[in-house]
Amino acid sequence: TSLLRPLVAGNWKMNGTGQSLEQLAAIVAGLDALPASIDLLICPPATLIERASRTAHGSRLLIGGQNCHEKSDGAYTGEISAAMLGDCGASHVILGHSERRTLYAETSDLVCAKADAALGKGLVTIICIGETETERRAGEALSIVEQQLAASVPAGARAATVVIAYEPVWAIGTGLTPTAAEVAEVHAHIRALLVARYGSEGQAMRILYGGSVKAANARELLAIDHVDGALIGGASLKASDFLAIASVY
Ligand code: G3P
Repeated sequence: TSLLRPLVAGNWKMNGTGQSLEQLAAIVAGLDALPASIDLLICPPATLIERASRTAHGSRLLIGGQNCHEKSDGAYTGEISAAMLGDCGASHVILGHSERRTLYAETSDLVCAKADAALGKGLVTIICIGETETERRAGEALSIVEQQLAASVPAGARAATVVIAYEPVWAIGTGLTPTAAEVAEVHAHIRALLVARYGSEGQAMRILYGGSVKAANARELLAIDHVDGALIGGASLKASDFLAIASVY
């Protein structure tokens, strides 16, 4: 059970064109049936952020980016700054997703620099951490999460603007999920580390679970202590799936 205001977030990854705005509109249409006590966020690809923001305008659906550059501007062909995301209507940004860490060699230090840039432009940052299957098998899940957390989250992090997402890499897009006991262990560990470092701010910082969350397992996962919401990949692409997960609250 979460003591905090839950955040149910969707990460569309590299999926979606203008047609996907129909799903977004269907999410907006379904918001009234959800409790007012939760926050809802969709992070579409960058090309859709501005249109998604328009679709969500006037509703409580929040829109975010999936990455940003650590610099504010300049000769970085193909990159997108935090200010640009905000300019398109994004209020949030996902940083340090395992796909960014693995496929684009993003280090925790870089993720931290990106978080500083995003926070400096007023974006809420969702910082992702999580162990690989090899690391879990080696009994290193807690220490990996600890290292990533220490190095990826900026020193002055505040609960209102920083969200942590625990995504075990082996659970992403695989249909596999950790047991409730495994999720509980990692989330309690993250909470203890956040409190040790940030005091009451760490107590109030939300910790999302991500990795094969779907309607069928959401109730069990979201009921675990210190699971303050979900970061959903595949199941956020369809409005009915996303709404079904959020309706667990
Ligand atoms: O960021 C969310 C994501 O990595 C989880 O993906 O498809 O397993 O829900 P999925």
